[in-house]
Amino acid sequence: MPKPRPMRAGWLLHPSAKVLLFTLCLLPLAWLVFGAATGGLGANPAEKLIRSTGDWTLRLLCFTLAITPLRKLLGVQQLARFRRMLGLFTFSYALLHLLCYAGFDMGLDARAIVLDIAQRPFILVGASTFALLLALAITSFQPFLRWLGGRRWQALHRLVYLCAVLALLHFFWMRAGKRDFAEVFVYTTIIAILLMARVMLRWRLAGPGKAPAHML
Ligand code: HEM
Repeated sequence: MPKPRPMRAGWLLHPSAKVLLFTLCLLPLAWLVFGAATGGLGANPAEKLIRSTGDWTLRLLCFTLAITPLRKLLGVQQLARFRRMLGLFTFSYALLHLLCYAGFDMGLDARAIVLDIAQRPFILVGASTFALLLALAITSFQPFLRWLGGRRWQALHRLVYLCAVLALLHFFWMRAGKRDFAEVFVYTTIIAILLMARVMLRWRLAGPGKAPAHML
């Protein structure tokens, strides 16, 4: 396969590009806060908040996963500088999702939450996904990169793919009760394509005489 010609994307290095992405990532939250303040969240605002924050966590996870394949396919190295911000926003929306569930569904009762995690498998899977996202968010900072070393840090951060699979399972299990799989199918397709792209690019770039596998 011919090597992709690198695209010119110097504007991605401009400081305002990060500010723009930061603002875009805050828009769903601003929209939910606006809806809550103006009574625009429908008949069941608590459910709307839990579900919307769950949806945005999954969407941001997909955007985060798309960075590496896009960077390699388009040859736009500058895209890498947005990955950590997207990953941290993914974690932040997951935290909001968890807080909405803990506050609205469980009345902030820690015992009830632990029992719910033990009794409902889809909640257990959601909690496991959250624990992984938390570990990735904490270790995304420079001191951890230095402490772990590049190779081990990269291996740890490949767990983001496990997060994606667990998030799909959480979503699938939740929708199974309602037999409503349309959106689950869409997200599964997107994540499968991103995973395949990652694996294929790794194979292609790890060919003889190419970059060492841990650098891909
Ligand atoms: C401790 C962690 C978590 C808990 C307790 C939790 C709990 C829940 C609950 C109670 C619902 C709504 C169920 C309903 O309305 O019947 C839900 C839906 C959902 N959650 Fe989670 N979740 C967690 C983590 C996550 C994570 C990490 C993700 C994504 C990476 C995620 C993505 C979703 C999605 C996409 C939905 C469906 C939203 C929709 O129906 O549109 N959840 N979760």
